[in-house]
Amino acid sequence: MIEIHQVSRLYRRGVDEVHALEDVSLQIPDGTFVALMGPSGSGKSTLLNLIAGLDQPTSGVVKVGAQNLNGLSEDQLAAWRAAHVGFIFQFYNLIPVLSAIENVEVPLLLTRLAKADRRKHAELALSIVGLADRKHHLPNQLSGGEQQRVAIARAIVVDPELIVADEPTGDLDAKNADDILSLLRQLKSEFHKTVVMVTHDPRAIRYVDQTFHLEQGVLVNGATAVEHA
Ligand SMILES: Nc1ncnc2c1ncn2[C@@H]1O[C@H](COP(=O)(O)OP(=O)(O)OP(=O)(O)O)[C@@H](O)[C@H]1O
Ligand SMILES: [Mg+2]
Repeated sequence: MIEIHQVSRLYRRGVDEVHALEDVSLQIPDGTFVALMGPSGSGKSTLLNLIAGLDQPTSGVVKVGAQNLNGLSEDQLAAWRAAHVGFIFQFYNLIPVLSAIENVEVPLLLTRLAKADRRKHAELALSIVGLADRKHHLPNQLSGGEQQRVAIARAIVVDPELIVADEPTGDLDAKNADDILSLLRQLKSEFHKTVVMVTHDPRAIRYVDQTFHLEQGVLVNGATAVEHA
C-alpha cells in the first residue's frame, strides 16, 4: 500500500513560491495500476517523484509498503529506490552506446550478482517485454516502442514491487502506446507489481484500475474506479 497523507510540496525560487501540491491525501493498494492525470503544471510529476523517493514533501507523510520515506537521508533514499522502484520515462533514457541487453543490465551493476547471473536476469526481463531477439541492437537500431520496452525491461530487472512511469506513451503513436499500456497492465496482473503512471493519454483509462485527477496541486476527485469490460 502507498499512503500519501496531507502532503504538500512548496518550491521556492528566490521570492517566488510555487505550491506544486497542497494537502494531497490518497492511498494506492498493492498490485494495482493507477494513473495520475491533470493539466500541465498540476503537480503530477511532483507527486510521482515523492512516491518514488526522488524528492521529499515540504509537509505530510509518504509511506510506500513498510517504508516511511520521511526523514530518510539522500543515501538511504537512493538505496531504497535501487531495491524497490523501477523507473520508466517519456524519452526512454537508454544509454546510446550500450546494446539493449547491456542497458537492461545497468541496474544490476549495483547488486552483488555475478556477471553470468546479471545476463540471465536481463535476458528474462527482455523476454517478458518480447524483445529477446533484439538484445544486441543499439537503441538507435530500435523503434520508439521497442526502446520503451527495453526501458520497461530495465525497470523490472531488479524485480521491484513498485514501477513508476512519467508519461510513458507521450512520445509514441497509438499502436505503440496501446502495446506499452498492455504491458504495464500485464506487470500488474501477472507479476503483481504496483504501477503508478502519469499520463495525458485518455486511452490509458481503459487499462488502469483507478485514476487520480490533480488540478493546481489539489486532488480534485479523490479516486475514480474504472469499470473494465
Ligand atoms: N524544481 C522546481 N522548482 C520550482 N518549481 C517547480 C519545480 N518543479 C516543478 N515546479 C512547479 O511545480 C508545478 C507542478 O509541476 P509538475 O512538474 O509536477 O507538473 P506536471 O503536472 O507534471 O506538468 P506536465 O504535465 O507539464 O509535466 C509547476 O507549476 C512547476 O512549474
Ligand atoms: Mg510532468
